[in-house]
Amino acid sequence: MAANNNFVKSAWLIMDELSNSGQVESALQSILEKLSAEFSCPEASLWLKHDVDNKLYMIASKGDEDNTGISIEYNSELVGKVVSNGISEYVRKCGDDLTDTKRIYGDNCLAIPLKTPFGTLGCMLFVNRSIEFNEEEIKTLENCAALIALDLEDKGFYFEVDNNRKPLVSLRGVVKEFMSGEEMRRILKGIDLDVYEGELLVVLGESGCGKSTMLNIIGGMDKASEGKLIIEGEDFSDPSEQELTEYRRDYIGFIFQSYNLMPNLTALENVEFIAEISKQPMDSLKALEMVGLADRANRYPSALSGGQQQRVCIARAIVKDPKIILADEPTAALDFNTGQGVLKAIEDIVRNDKKTVIMVTHNVEIAKMADRVIKLKDGLISSIRTNFHPLHANDLVW
Ligand SMILES: Nc1ncnc2c1ncn2[C@@H]1O[C@H](COP(=O)(O)OP(=O)(O)OP(=O)(O)O)[C@@H](O)[C@H]1O
Ligand SMILES: [Mg+2]
Repeated sequence: MAANNNFVKSAWLIMDELSNSGQVESALQSILEKLSAEFSCPEASLWLKHDVDNKLYMIASKGDEDNTGISIEYNSELVGKVVSNGISEYVRKCGDDLTDTKRIYGDNCLAIPLKTPFGTLGCMLFVNRSIEFNEEEIKTLENCAALIALDLEDKGFYFEVDNNRKPLVSLRGVVKEFMSGEEMRRILKGIDLDVYEGELLVVLGESGCGKSTMLNIIGGMDKASEGKLIIEGEDFSDPSEQELTEYRRDYIGFIFQSYNLMPNLTALENVEFIAEISKQPMDSLKALEMVGLADRANRYPSALSGGQQQRVCIARAIVKDPKIILADEPTAALDFNTGQGVLKAIEDIVRNDKKTVIMVTHNVEIAKMADRVIKLKDGLISSIRTNFHPLHANDLVW
């Protein structure tokens, strides 16, 4: 009876999530979290098969490690086996013999196929439950999985993956230490990160965790204490002053929280000023046009709203035609509407102009427009999540 109640409750939440959430991935994430709480399971993940490349991708994850977006070969590991057979597998002890299955180490691993009458779409994996699953619980979870699979099938849910992505910037083992009084404080403790060309990467993390520090290292404004900065495959950890200046001037565009526009120059002149010191600038008016401000070109900053001033800053960052744009809390000082206008401008330069943007924010809602979201915690990257369907800036609400 308890298990039956469990199913009714779980079925209700599955249908509720999948029908009310605008974004299937968030619905799946929420369902996974609720099911693992309901079944007292500390770790879980949900995997879906990609039709074209025949791999399984982790779409949602619960537990210490979040690597949403990683993939495994279709037929490998417990998950792959369950998807190809369409039959649940319950492994009481995942011993050392499963050497290539790090992600399912632990006891009481239950893998359940997401099965429809037409085939198996993926798999839910529950790991490290302290007590064993009984048959009724397995049945209940199988019913839940079937419900999810049917709904996904019904929605025609798909996701795209790009396996030809090139890392533009990579960090390897990046450590940053600062003196604080007498004491040396280690702020970044070994960051490994690849930033791909044309992606919008959002960085989340608590105040003081080192987000700006990491951004400054990528932007060549600060130097790592240890580790490597690699730009398009070349080691850039120890550049000469001249190389560094050129890198900052031509390769990187910055957008900060404060606008720091020159008050005695018009919007256009503020942009032209940067264009003049750039190697291959685009037309300044075009840059203002791209952020929707062509009609305000001759206004002074004092005659522009906060959001408009911030968009002038974006124009200033893009006029250099840099490869990467670094944005540190660009909407923190703005209200919702103006903030959204700024995010729309950022979205346009990534989606239309194929620029790479790394944006730091405190706002988890803003993270929904990202291609990938990384979280910094205790000096390390604690999770990397892929949004297979990023939201449009105009659809964000906070
Ligand atoms: N130049 C510096 N000298 C000494 N300590 C520094 C320096 N820059 C940063 N720190 C320290 O490093 C830590 C991380 O700072 P950072 O500005 O990177 O955090 P953050 O994640 O961007 O925080 P916030 O969200 O508040 O902007 C903080 O404790 C800060 O005091
Ligand atoms: Mg900061």
